[in-house]
Amino acid sequence: MEWGNENGLSVLFVCLGNICRSPMAEGAFRKAAAEAGLEIEIDSAGTAGYHIGEPPDPRAIKAAGRHGVDISGGRGRQLCEQDFDRFTHIFALDSANLAGIEARAPRHGRAKVAMLLDVLEDHEGASVDDPYYGDQGSFDECWELVSSAANRLAEKLAARAEAPKA
Ligand code: 4NP
Repeated sequence: MEWGNENGLSVLFVCLGNICRSPMAEGAFRKAAAEAGLEIEIDSAGTAGYHIGEPPDPRAIKAAGRHGVDISGGRGRQLCEQDFDRFTHIFALDSANLAGIEARAPRHGRAKVAMLLDVLEDHEGASVDDPYYGDQGSFDECWELVSSAANRLAEKLAARAEAPKA
């Protein structure tokens, strides 16, 4: 993905329910962005409305907590049209949700939409599997994958922030 050279990056992570994958991606990226000294607006949402107002799944909270990240304050919300103007970048956790995001995109929204795992050179186009019907191990594995992507994303953005502006 081309990042362009606009200032004021803002990043939204989107899965289906906004209680498992995208809150973990959000938490991992908050940590990575803070460590890289990046000031970025960060949030997550779901394409579906099943879990609006609910905290993240306890297994997601536990997986994040094992890495020193507290995501328990998150509350599920659904992707809305304003998100396409509020955020510069929207990252889908899987291909079905990428399609769901694109279906909701207004014609003139500014957000660039991509798959989260596109930032990992060996995972381009890949989906983060839904851990919801799995066990704690599925959530811990999911954390490892989304935090690798979050770290790489922060690295790319930090390099971009340091690059001379065209
Ligand atoms: P998420 O996981 O999209 O990673 O938040 C899911 C959460 C809930 C459901 C499906 C996936 N659900 O069917 O309720």
